[in-house]
Amino acid sequence: MLNKITVVGAGNVGATAAQRIAEKELARTVVMVDVAEGIPQGKALDQWESAPIELFDSRVIGSNGYDESAGSDIVVITAGIARKPGMSRDDLLNTNAGIVKSVAENVAKTSPNAIIIVVSNPLDVMCYVAMKASGFPRERVIGMAGVLDTARYRSFLAEALDVSVRDIQAMVLGGHGDTMVPLISYTTVSGIPITQFLDKGKLDAIVDRARNGGAEIVKYLKTGSAYYAPSSGAVQIVEAIVLDQKRILPCSAWLDGEYGMKGLFLGVPVKLGRRGMEKIIEVTLTADETAALAKSAEAVREPMSVIKF
Ligand code: NAI
Ligand code: 2OP
Repeated sequence: MLNKITVVGAGNVGATAAQRIAEKELARTVVMVDVAEGIPQGKALDQWESAPIELFDSRVIGSNGYDESAGSDIVVITAGIARKPGMSRDDLLNTNAGIVKSVAENVAKTSPNAIIIVVSNPLDVMCYVAMKASGFPRERVIGMAGVLDTARYRSFLAEALDVSVRDIQAMVLGGHGDTMVPLISYTTVSGIPITQFLDKGKLDAIVDRARNGGAEIVKYLKTGSAYYAPSSGAVQIVEAIVLDQKRILPCSAWLDGEYGMKGLFLGVPVKLGRRGMEKIIEVTLTADETAALAKSAEAVREPMSVIKF
């Protein structure tokens, strides 16, 4: 158990993540910070009151400032506006860049040794903003998206094959957007290549559904975007760090030559441990996957080049 974990943004993703962190007792104190008056305080109190039933001793507190969060070991940034129907993740660009910049500056001042996990969209660009604004090294700025995109892909495959989600191994790389890259060559059912279970047509349809998984939920919800699976994704990263699990998970990481690319955040397999993003794992890709990853990188570089923050 760590001493303190802060979640900035007490909205749908943030509040659900805080509750999951507390239930798993990953920190003694879980702080929720939000600009909305009363919201983080009210949600934190409500969550703390569930402790005697759910049986956790992590103390959850809410705040409109950063004093309570000072000295945090991990800060999860979910602050920002979410997608509404008809909006792409990039529509959120400049508004969320301003928000993430101010959050990251506050984190750097009050929790200078923290590991930042970014969730706010557009994800890969917001990671860049958070790294620039905090001045933190790349090991301590990690983006959550690949875990979510992979979970969606795995859940659809498990459903199609009528097998346990536990037995589907897969990895979705690239930017968190329509150009994300599910690696079919590394998708297996208990080690058996997925191509032995599904023909190309069925597999392509599942890949397509995973790519559009975020929009599918927005279409149902109408007033916001997904948060149960996204908060699970963020907390899986938190847990891997807290417990120094050395898990290999797809996360957005700052590339410095890996996969032949430099100067951008992109979803790649990374090793997560107590020092944060401890290593980027370079895997051999097929020619199609390499081309798709390069295309996805372009889709991240484009908003990066016009961003104002
Ligand atoms: P939400 O609207 O429910 O919550 C956002 C919260 O941020 C609100 O409570 C708002 O008051 C707060 N906020 C705004 N400015 C702030 C500031 N300067 N400081 C602190 N708090 C501030 O939105 P939701 O659904 O929780 O989504 C949050 C973000 O996460 C969105 O940008 C969304 O697109 C993104 N997201 C990313 C995913 C991923 O895979 N990376 C998946 C799901 C959501
Ligand atoms: C999602 O994929 C909106 O990025 C968010 O659900």
